[in-house]
Amino acid sequence: MKIAVSGKGGVGKTLIAGGLARGFAERGLKTIGIDADSSPNLGLTLGLSAEETRKITPISDNKQLIEAKTSTGYSGVYNLNFTVDDIVKQYSVPTPLGVNLIVMGTVRSMGAGCMCAPTAVIRALLRYLVVETNEAVVLDLEAGVEHIGRGTARQVDALLIVADSNLKSLEIAKHIHDLASEAGMKQLYLVGNRVMNETQKQAIQSFTDKNGLSLLTFVPFDQKVIEADMLGVTPLKNREIEAVSTIDNICELLLKKTESQA
Ligand SMILES: Nc1ncnc2c1ncn2[C@@H]1O[C@H](COP(=O)(O)OP(=O)(O)OP(=O)(O)O)[C@@H](O)[C@H]1O
Ligand SMILES: [Mg+2]
Repeated sequence: MKIAVSGKGGVGKTLIAGGLARGFAERGLKTIGIDADSSPNLGLTLGLSAEETRKITPISDNKQLIEAKTSTGYSGVYNLNFTVDDIVKQYSVPTPLGVNLIVMGTVRSMGAGCMCAPTAVIRALLRYLVVETNEAVVLDLEAGVEHIGRGTARQVDALLIVADSNLKSLEIAKHIHDLASEAGMKQLYLVGNRVMNETQKQAIQSFTDKNGLSLLTFVPFDQKVIEADMLGVTPLKNREIEAVSTIDNICELLLKKTESQA
């Protein structure tokens, strides 16, 4: 099972990606979380400290290793020879929530240029990664449509698009949906996050109905999520937070959906 989480900036992608990865790991799946944001912070959500997160060697620094592993030596010819075990042993770091974390990479200096190379590494990794039924990969994407345009998430089984009731985030969700759909991706689901009341639910519901998006579920707004993030403690550790248990339920929904598509 490979899942990617996309959406406008600040809508809750990292919280949801982290919650799903934790949920899969707890259900016994060997799980990799990939932070594909050039401002990486999935580590914090998976229970690492800010210092530990900062120290992670990004996968872009392992470009040579990845190429050596996937290339047959003939230009443009590759082996399908990545396993989740390879990744876990060689490239990822363990986190307190049981998820193995990979970080794509960041910008090192002003004028260092674009993120094309690190993005290409993640795309190759997903393309050549063989994920068994007892394994899961959750990709936390950078905000907006850049990764979608680059096809980073083309190889996933399901793309979650996170939005709140703000029309701007819903418009970006629709843009992501339309791009992914045109590219032939089938399992596209909208998650309505930070929902405070029925009016917000209805706003999200009527937008998805009108624009042909498939609404998976709503995640309630919870002040405790904000408070935990403020203190640098992952909200995922507190099971009493309703948003956290709702995100955990999304694991079940996705497992059922991908099973029925298999
Ligand atoms: N259900 C929720 N209830 C309350 N606060 C939430 C909820 N979901 C996310 N937040 C808050 O919204 C903010 C953004 O969350 P998060 O970092 O997960 O978003 P993001 O989409 O990954 O952002 P970015 O685009 O910067 O990567 C955080 O302060 C988080 O605490
Ligand atoms: Mg994020």
